[in-house]
Amino acid sequence: MIAKRTFLLGAAAAALLAAAPPVYAQDAVKIGLILPMTGPFASTGRQIEAAVKLYQAQNGATVAGKKVEVIVKDDTGTPDITKRLAQELVVNDKVSFLAGFGLTPLALAATQIATQGKVPEVVMAAATSTITEASPYVVRTSMTLPQVTTPVADWAAKNGVKKAMTMVADYGPGIDAEKAFTETLTKQGGTVESLRVPLRNPDFAPFLQRVADAKPDALFVFVPAGIGSIFMKQFVERGLDKSGVKLIGSGDMTDDDLLNDMGDVALGAVTSFHYSAAHPSAENKAFVDSFKKMHSMRPNFMAVAGYDGMHLIYEALKKTNGATGGDALVAAMKGMSWTSPRGPISIDPQTRDIIQNVYIRKVERMDGELYNVEFDTVPNVKDPVKAAKK
Ligand code: PHB
Repeated sequence: MIAKRTFLLGAAAAALLAAAPPVYAQDAVKIGLILPMTGPFASTGRQIEAAVKLYQAQNGATVAGKKVEVIVKDDTGTPDITKRLAQELVVNDKVSFLAGFGLTPLALAATQIATQGKVPEVVMAAATSTITEASPYVVRTSMTLPQVTTPVADWAAKNGVKKAMTMVADYGPGIDAEKAFTETLTKQGGTVESLRVPLRNPDFAPFLQRVADAKPDALFVFVPAGIGSIFMKQFVERGLDKSGVKLIGSGDMTDDDLLNDMGDVALGAVTSFHYSAAHPSAENKAFVDSFKKMHSMRPNFMAVAGYDGMHLIYEALKKTNGATGGDALVAAMKGMSWTSPRGPISIDPQTRDIIQNVYIRKVERMDGELYNVEFDTVPNVKDPVKAAKK
């Protein structure tokens, strides 16, 4: 497992990290933004980078008297590359923040460097519950899978789903989602059968055949951002759209970035999630309009977490008057709250994870486009896994 693998920091780099003097005054504050810009998860990189550019265009590139410079690096979605890039950014570029992290194994690959270098690691995408526990310098603006999954399991229980199947990508967030869904539904009298699909080059067909044979009331799906359209295509090819099996999931499946290309098969899918491009608020309308204007695409949940991650960094720097010590910055981030395009959010001072509303949504056609239309809200949801440990 990546989290347990021993990290051998080069001796020279280790000495440099240990000897790094506290930075008192410097003209530029650097953010190392590590993202999958190529490969199967490139949509995550594209969305987050676009949101970071929008945030800086709207808020300027200077904060607390310092120029904020963002250095974007492509890790292609490969943990060994993430680790090397994080090390280079901290040791050579002397970044004050590491940010981005498109997948759980990528976020975990950098935690040891964040800890040793005392550099805040702002996780804008990865969503396995445990990531924040891997380093005291991790602060998260995305979500956790248990946080966004539990509400749709409750919805299913209340809406007549007795027999369900889960189909999840077989790694951290998928296993988190499977557990949250299964525990929530079985507590309310339902039964759940679990299927796990490989993360890389997924072929859903044999698993979908098992769903077609078992005919559950509902199929719960977790696939990471960027993969939902591959799943939907195979769902239709197996005739499952006409089988009477209700399609539900976390909102990763009906990602706003891909939803329009999925077509009518997605109509009626019920998901619970923290962000929809159709969230009806003035803040979100302004965000979606300016994002579309600047980038000619629709923002998804990755974009909103990148945008909020930049807000967190800017506000932390304001609080420290531009001082860049990692401990002071993380302390400044703890407990911070603001109104995001997704609704009210805050950083839990105990866990450094995000507290946010989770919305229940249904895919509908509006003004000729497909959207996840919110119809219910569970307010101020904490990561339930960490909340249960207390
Ligand atoms: C993750 O790897 O933690 C992850 C990636 C994409 C998602 C959700 C979770 O949509």
